[in-house]
Amino acid sequence: MGAPQAPERDRTPFLDRLVAYVQAGIVPYHTPGHKQGRGAPPRLVDVLGTKPFLIDLDGDLEEPDQAPAVDSLREAEALAAAAHGARHARFLVNGTTAGIHALMLAGTGPGQTVVLPRNVHRSLIGGLILSGARPRFVAPQFLAEAGVATVPTPVAVAAALRGEPRPSALWLTAPIYYGWLPDLPAMARVAAALGVPLWVDEAHGALHGFHPDLPPGALAAGAAAAVRSFHKGGGSLVQSSLLLLGEAGPDPDRVDAALAVLQSTSPSPLLLASLDGARAWLAGGASGALDRLLATAHQVREALNQRPGLHCWGPEVVGQAGIAAWDPTRIVFSVAGLGLSGLEAARWLRRACGLQVEMADLTNVVVVLSPGDGPWSARRLLDGVDRLIREARPRRRPALLEPPPLPPAPLTPREAYFAPARRVPLREAVGEASAEMVAPYPPGVPILVPGEEVTAETVEYLTRLRRAGARLQGGSDPTGETLLVVAGSPASSPPWASGEL
Ligand SMILES: Cc1ncc(COP(=O)(O)O)c(C=O)c1O
Repeated sequence: MGAPQAPERDRTPFLDRLVAYVQAGIVPYHTPGHKQGRGAPPRLVDVLGTKPFLIDLDGDLEEPDQAPAVDSLREAEALAAAAHGARHARFLVNGTTAGIHALMLAGTGPGQTVVLPRNVHRSLIGGLILSGARPRFVAPQFLAEAGVATVPTPVAVAAALRGEPRPSALWLTAPIYYGWLPDLPAMARVAAALGVPLWVDEAHGALHGFHPDLPPGALAAGAAAAVRSFHKGGGSLVQSSLLLLGEAGPDPDRVDAALAVLQSTSPSPLLLASLDGARAWLAGGASGALDRLLATAHQVREALNQRPGLHCWGPEVVGQAGIAAWDPTRIVFSVAGLGLSGLEAARWLRRACGLQVEMADLTNVVVVLSPGDGPWSARRLLDGVDRLIREARPRRRPALLEPPPLPPAPLTPREAYFAPARRVPLREAVGEASAEMVAPYPPGVPILVPGEEVTAETVEYLTRLRRAGARLQGGSDPTGETLLVVAGSPASSPPWASGEL
């Protein structure tokens, strides 16, 4: 990345501005009402201390004779852009979700088509509802041994991009939750040749580009825009993310207009400052912390692979199931050889050992390692896994489930979202058009998107996942027993056909 030279890259202009305000001893007659902690609930001050309140400043931070406070934010964003080789960066206070929604609003709209893998995060479906665009889904590959839907191939993406009507954007997820990446450079080339911008959901790639042993990052691979959850891996506070626009990115003014619709007019200074601090830290090499993180991840992977019944995925995934690169800091291990599901193993590790993993599926347990990990947490994990191997009772593992084929979609997500809806038992929803999204977790992949016809295979798949212990997210009924469908279905004689909607 074309990062600025130190000490420029070590600067934290937004954080400094907050500190200067506090140090100047200014008396605040403005929001927030906690007045730097003096008016905060005592219990909160007990827990948090006073420091977070001191810099949790809203309102007018302007110095009478200096540039307005927003300039220090823009300066901080410019440093973040430089650290990522981006043309523009924006700090986000509603996670990567806000950035995904902003790109959808800025670069697509009703009547337009967006190409995206089926196993996208649900924030992209929300973006489609907001923008009114029609999805053209590309099936991901399936890594059967791991039981994981991975990424689409460049060939499948190229075919979708060439379809009519011509899409206005291509979305890819890189890396996916498991730390695996599609062939971004190849897809960026195909998309560029067809004049379609490539936007990347880089939520799980906060560290990419900051170390030679990590993938270079979406922009470096040719993406026009990317959104990364700095809070997930980069050390900033939860909910803080970074939107990066490359040379071919959408018009920054349109992106800003979309963000003004989507984000608070009182963005949390704590979140913004945390992004400023995290960017400076990473751009400055994170004091060797990334070297240590990679060494820890390597040791943990090696150690897990010596345990009987376990397999921790590593570089061998590259070249399989469309995977072109991987992130070694993501520890994904299969417990299939122990006769357990990943979900059971994860629950056991939590109950018996007090270890909370990031995610689990029917086969694997996913552990996030970050600069906050080291020998101590690696040891705890390996001890826990050893106890799991000795003590956990194997059960009959639920069979691996491959998602059903894509159903027809008589409505766009936005049309279905705004249509009158009624609630029916899941079994009776067959043939109806879904009015909501359902994304079983794990794996968190939408299995029903608003506007799609509910098929018998979909109902069967959801029922089996629920029995296996998956939670159904996104829908209005967390038990998954009922579903909102577009009123007036079945889909064979839809109300939208008669112009009722
Ligand atoms: C792949 C992916 N994309 C996007 C998001 C949304 O990110 P955020 O929580 O920062 O809004 C997530 C969150 O888990 C995710 O896993």
